[in-house]
Amino acid sequence: MNIDEMRRTVAERAAALVEPGMQVGLGTGRTAALVVDAIARKKMKLVAVATSEATAQQARAGGIRLVALDEVRALDLCIDGADEFDPHLDLIKGLGGALLREKLVAQAAQRFVVIVDEEKRVRQLGEKAPLPVEVVPFGWTHTRERLRYLGLDPVLRERAGNPVLTDGGNYVLDCRAQVPIASLADAIKRTTGVVEHGLFLRMAHTVLVGTPSGLEELHRPRT
Ligand code: 5RP
Repeated sequence: MNIDEMRRTVAERAAALVEPGMQVGLGTGRTAALVVDAIARKKMKLVAVATSEATAQQARAGGIRLVALDEVRALDLCIDGADEFDPHLDLIKGLGGALLREKLVAQAAQRFVVIVDEEKRVRQLGEKAPLPVEVVPFGWTHTRERLRYLGLDPVLRERAGNPVLTDGGNYVLDCRAQVPIASLADAIKRTTGVVEHGLFLRMAHTVLVGTPSGLEELHRPRT
C-alpha cells in the first residue's frame, strides 16, 4: 500500500465506527478529511462538532449537521489524525494548527480514535515532528523566551513572512527539545502566554495505523 491507500484504509475503518444518532467529533488534516468525506457519503443522521473552520466547511458541504461543542454534554466518538504516536499511544498533534479545538473536542469524547499512517510511528515523541505550542500574540517574544528557558527551541510558524494565525487568532511556536519533550508538558502548560500545547498524553483510546501490509489497530489498556 502506498501512503494514500494507507490513509484511505484507516479513514474507512474509522468511518465504519460511526453509527446513526451518534454525536461525533471531526478532526482536522488530510486523513481526517477522508473520514469526513466517508461519513458524508453514508448520509446518516448524526450530530458533529468540527475541530477547525476548514473541517466545518467541509462537513457542511457534505451535508453533515454541525453543532457547537457547548451544545453537547459529551460526544460518543472523536476521530482525528496525529503527527506522531509512540508505543504508549501518546501523541503530538497540531501541525495543522488546530490543536486547541482538537484537544477540547477529544476530551469531550467517550472514545478518541486516532488515524495515522506508519510514518507517524516513533519510539519517543519529538523524534520527527516539532511540538506545536499555541501562544497569545500579546508579548509572544517573552513567552518564547520562557519556553527557551525550559529547554525548548521555539520557532514562530510563518507563512509568506507573516505569523500563521490559529482559528482562535493565536500564534504557533514549533518547538524542539534536547530532552524527551513529553516530560515538559506540565511546565509548558504553566507558562504564561501559552494557550495549549500539542502533547495529547493518555488521551487516545485507539490508534488505527495504515501500514504497507494493511491496517493495524492499537488499543490503550484500560487503567
Ligand atoms: C492538525 C492535526 C492533524 O491531525 C495532524 O497534523 C495530522 O494531519 P495529516 O492527517 O494531514 O497528516 O493535528 O492540527
